[in-house]
Amino acid sequence: MKIKGKHIVISGATSGIGLELTRQLYSDNTVIVIGRSTQKLEALAEELKGISTFCADLANLDQLETAASKIVAEFPTIDMLINNAAVQNTPKFTDQDFDYSSIRDEVTINFTAPCCLIHQLLPALLTSNKASIININSGLGLVPKTTSAIYCATKGALNIFSQSLNYQLEDTNIDVQQVFLELVETPMSQGRGSAKISAKSAAQKIIEGIALGITEHNIGKVKLLRLLLRIAPSIARKIMKKY
Ligand SMILES: NC(=O)c1ccc[n+]([C@@H]2O[C@H](COP(=O)([O-])OP(=O)(O)OC[C@H]3O[C@@H](n4cnc5c(N)ncnc54)[C@H](OP(=O)(O)O)[C@@H]3O)[C@@H](O)[C@H]2O)c1
Repeated sequence: MKIKGKHIVISGATSGIGLELTRQLYSDNTVIVIGRSTQKLEALAEELKGISTFCADLANLDQLETAASKIVAEFPTIDMLINNAAVQNTPKFTDQDFDYSSIRDEVTINFTAPCCLIHQLLPALLTSNKASIININSGLGLVPKTTSAIYCATKGALNIFSQSLNYQLEDTNIDVQQVFLELVETPMSQGRGSAKISAKSAAQKIIEGIALGITEHNIGKVKLLRLLLRIAPSIARKIMKKY
C-alpha cells in the first residue's frame, strides 16, 4: 500500500535518512520539514518545489514550540510525524576532548525534542482519520556500545517512551511506530563501521514498514540482534560493546 495524500512532518530532513525519506514521500504527499539550517532548507525547497519548510534548532525548545505552532496554524490536520533528527557524539567521558556542554544538547535533540514535538502537534494529529507517529531508533537503543553513551541512552529512552505513549494513545486514531535501524551510510556514521546500507535503501524500508503499520520495525542486522538478545544476551552485549 502506497502512502498517498498525507500531511507528513519530518524532522532533520536536510541530510541522510531524513533527506531520503523526504525525497521519497514528497511526490505523493504534502511534506512539511523541520531543519536547523536556513541555507539547507532553502536548497531543499529549491530541489522539491512546494515543500513546506520550518526552521528550528531542536536543541532549543522555544524554537521548537514556535515552529510547531506555525505548523499547526498552517496545517490543522497532520497524518504523520516522523521524529528523525538526532546527533551522535562519540567521545568517551574519559577523553580529553569530551565536551561537557554537549550532554544537554544531545539529550534535548534526541529525546526531549521528539517528546515535545509530539505534544505540540498532538491536536493536529488527533484530527486525522488515521495518524501515525514514527520514532526513528537504532539497534543501539536496545544494546549499547562503549562510545556514544549519551546517544545510546537517548535511544533507549525513546524506545521505552514510544511503548508507553502507544498505550496512552490506544483509544485514539494515533499509532506509535518505531524503526530500529542498522548502520546506514550518512554523515552521522561517517568513518565508522562497514557494510552499511545506503540512506536511500533505509528510507525505502522505513516507508514500507510505515505502510504496513509495523509497530517495531527491525531493519537488517537488528533482526539478528533481537534474536541474539533472546537466545544469548551476553553474546549480543559483547558484540555491541565494540560496535
Ligand atoms: N546513520 C546510521 O547509521 C543510523 C543508525 C541507526 C539510527 N539512525 C538514526 O537515523 C536518524 C537519522 O540519522 P542520519 O544518519 O540520517 O543522520 P544525519 O545525516 O546526521 O542527519 C541528521 C539530521 O538531523 C538534523 N539535526 C541534527 N541536530 C539538529 C538540531 N539541533 N535541530 C534540528 N535538526 C537537527 C540534521 O540537520 P543538519 O543537516 O543541519 O545537520 C540532519 O538533517 C537519527 O535518528 C539516527 O539516530 C542512524
